[in-house]
Amino acid sequence: MFSNQDITRFANLETPFYYYDLALLQNTLAACASAAKVYNFHVHYAMKANFNDQVLQKIKSTGFGADCVSGGEVKKAIEVGFDNSKVVFAGVGKADKEINDALDNDIFCFNVESIQELVVIDELAAKKGKKAKVAIRINPNVDAHTHHNITTGLDENKFGINSWDLSDCAETLKKCAALEFIGIHFHIGSQITNLDVYKNLCVRVNEFATWFEERGFMIKVLNVGGGLGIDYHHPEQQIPDFPAYFAIFNEFLVVRTNQEVHFELGRALVGQCSSLISKVLYVKNGKKKNFIILDAGMTELMRPALYQAYHKIENISKGELAQVVNYDVVGPICESTDCFGKEVELAETERGDLIAIRSTGAYGEVMASRYNLRDTVNVAYNL
Ligand code: LLP
Repeated sequence: MFSNQDITRFANLETPFYYYDLALLQNTLAACASAAKVYNFHVHYAMKANFNDQVLQKIKSTGFGADCVSGGEVKKAIEVGFDNSKVVFAGVGKADKEINDALDNDIFCFNVESIQELVVIDELAAKKGKKAKVAIRINPNVDAHTHHNITTGLDENKFGINSWDLSDCAETLKKCAALEFIGIHFHIGSQITNLDVYKNLCVRVNEFATWFEERGFMIKVLNVGGGLGIDYHHPEQQIPDFPAYFAIFNEFLVVRTNQEVHFELGRALVGQCSSLISKVLYVKNGKKKNFIILDAGMTELMRPALYQAYHKIENISKGELAQVVNYDVVGPICESTDCFGKEVELAETERGDLIAIRSTGAYGEVMASRYNLRDTVNVAYNL
């Protein structure tokens, strides 16, 4: 909910802009940190969800590590001041330069996604006279029951090493003198709202951990990835149920003495702390449809066009008593998929009204593009 003071302030800012509620972010981070602490779980923030500087500063101050998926993210994490011993580097396609830079930064661990990658990291580390810590990202073939496009842990997905390649992987690890095996890593998908999915994941993690231990490998780290979803339909239910989430892992994961459990949360930490604020440029009342045309489009927020993702849309200029009309809410980009919502019930809307698209803190600003030679999106913070 926005206060009258917020709305008056928004009227003087150049739209469209991402509006960040840093106080809410702070509360969400504190809730996650205290829920994780109960079990001594370690959290790495999945930086891909949002690498806005102010957001990163808050996350770093919470003491979380950083989960990176490119050389750029590793560099940024170090620049922002994340402890290099808490930086992990995942991704199916790490380039040699990215690996070399990460080795130079002495990061905590590479989450390795293929046998070929193991060999390359071994060679590059050996050249530097270093030992690279590696965790094996295993594709556990667990269905995350989320949108097809953000499922990562099925056999058909490109991520991780498949179970049938693990014997080769173990043999390779034994041969690679410049690698130190520290554990196993999983990430089965994003926007997971059915917590039972995580029980299934725990069962598979336990099996794979035993498999490695039976072959003489010591597992120090069980990294179960991220994926905890948020409630896009109720943005006011702002802080995810971290205690329930961590309790599942505490109950179903077999953790031996001296083993650490690591998480890589992105969306759950930052998703609700931002809205995209946009202005209505035009209202077109057709025979079959009414269109609201915003000054924000898929260039500012790509999720609806890319995944048909739902974001709650509100007309924040009109009070509750206004008459309600059904609109297709669209952007100005020359693409038919540039649509934020179809048949959205909104207060009767006029040119100049402010529209809030909620829950855009994760995979919003970071996925913005300059397509159609659009300006870089603006940003504002709560005072
Ligand atoms: N760890 C790994 C290895 C990942 O690939 C991801 C996300 C995460 C952790 C964090 O997942 P989260 O806790 O945020 O669900 N752009 C899409 C989401 C892509 C997620 C990619 N990987 C969206 O807008 O829904």
